[in-house]
Amino acid sequence: MEKIVNLAKRRGFAFQSSEIYGGLVSCWDYGPVGVELKRNVKEAWWRDMVLTRTDIVGIDCAILMHPRVWEASGHVAGFTDPLVDCKKCKERFRADKLADAWCPEKPSKHPGECGGELTEVRQFNLMFKTFMGPVEDTASVVFMRPETAQGIFVNFLNVLNSSRHKPPFGIAQIGKSFRNEITPGNFLFRTREFEQMEMEFFVKPGEDDRWFEYWSSTRMEWYRTHGIRAENLRLRPHGKEELAHYAKSCVDVEYEFPFGWSELEGIANRTDFDLKRHTEYSGKDLSYFDEETRERYVPYVIEPAAGADRAALAFLVDAYDEDEAEGETRIVLRLHPRLAPVKAAIFPLLRKNGQPEKALQIRDMLAPHFPIQYDQAGSIGRRYRRQDEIGTPFGITVDHQTMQDQTVTLRERDSMQQERIPIDRLADDLRRRIDMPWSRPADLG
Ligand code: GAP
Repeated sequence: MEKIVNLAKRRGFAFQSSEIYGGLVSCWDYGPVGVELKRNVKEAWWRDMVLTRTDIVGIDCAILMHPRVWEASGHVAGFTDPLVDCKKCKERFRADKLADAWCPEKPSKHPGECGGELTEVRQFNLMFKTFMGPVEDTASVVFMRPETAQGIFVNFLNVLNSSRHKPPFGIAQIGKSFRNEITPGNFLFRTREFEQMEMEFFVKPGEDDRWFEYWSSTRMEWYRTHGIRAENLRLRPHGKEELAHYAKSCVDVEYEFPFGWSELEGIANRTDFDLKRHTEYSGKDLSYFDEETRERYVPYVIEPAAGADRAALAFLVDAYDEDEAEGETRIVLRLHPRLAPVKAAIFPLLRKNGQPEKALQIRDMLAPHFPIQYDQAGSIGRRYRRQDEIGTPFGITVDHQTMQDQTVTLRERDSMQQERIPIDRLADDLRRRIDMPWSRPADLG
């Protein structure tokens, strides 16, 4: 993880928020390449979950919602973690995760084993509160949404009536969520402000188990097709005692991070819990009437809920590699070309003989289509290394021959093999290579 965090800062993936003021714990800013990586993760999800499907539509809801939403959803009463304070060092810990925590004063000991006495367990609500309007009283309290899902449930009828879909169909949303986590940490893994990619799939009761299986395997496969090694992924079913109050069944897609197997995404069968609760609390009937079968029912919901930041971190970790190139160790990110922040870098071999001008012309030609970088500083080897470190899949070099026959060399990041391509075929060729199915070359382990 230390290597990833260092690389992230050095090459502009992520920086500590408000760093010049000493930083704000658990908040991160995405830098110039990090923002592209995360955008690509979200776009890949949106393409596969919305654009290419006829049974799912998108939505983008407000972060601030009516406070009754969170009473209906169960968040006001139950979105809590058990918390204990250490009377000695005054730190707070999750009472159910003491074995994973370390005493800040005696880092080899767990809280409570270090001589400090722990308080009784208290329930701590994780929702962030703020005030709506100019008066800061209890009547104006609103919450920063702790999940994007509820915006989808409260818009169920709006989407149903405006999009002419009928179950089975889904509504997808990508957006920020906020949780006042007691113990955030592990870089982008657990933060207090993060982005979710959630989809609520509404089905007829009785068809829910089948759809639960379908979404569990489809979502697992999504991470694989975007380059994560199969041996680093697993599906972990929740035991009965672990299930959320609304869930009939749940599995986590887990990734083996350097700090151990941890959740990337949860797929839950939320039953008709949410639509029924919002019917009860809002007074609006959220059942569905099937004109064909003349049946009325409250749909069950299968929910694949992923985190954009967590996924970006998993892609980064899985892509990180060190190998030998031209007699030195190179750091290379073997990212799926679709996820790579920069698709191609353009280098003039020499800073003379018209080569920089030609390379800039090629950059201008490709820039409207792909994120492209131009680099003329340092030896060609150094320039390749810089791009390898941010996972750029293709390097385009303008050389002496280019000036004669209008071809360039195209170097591939993983194999480091080069071939000559006519300039007028470059855009199509890159597009084809980026869209091709990709997996980590087998000989690279
Ligand atoms: N609507 C269901 C729901 O929100 P969740 O398992 O609490 O389920 C879904 O969250 C996903 O959101 C998680 O699998 C994770 O990827 C991401 N996530 C949740 N809390 C997070 C946090 N504090 N920091 C980063 N990502 C988080």
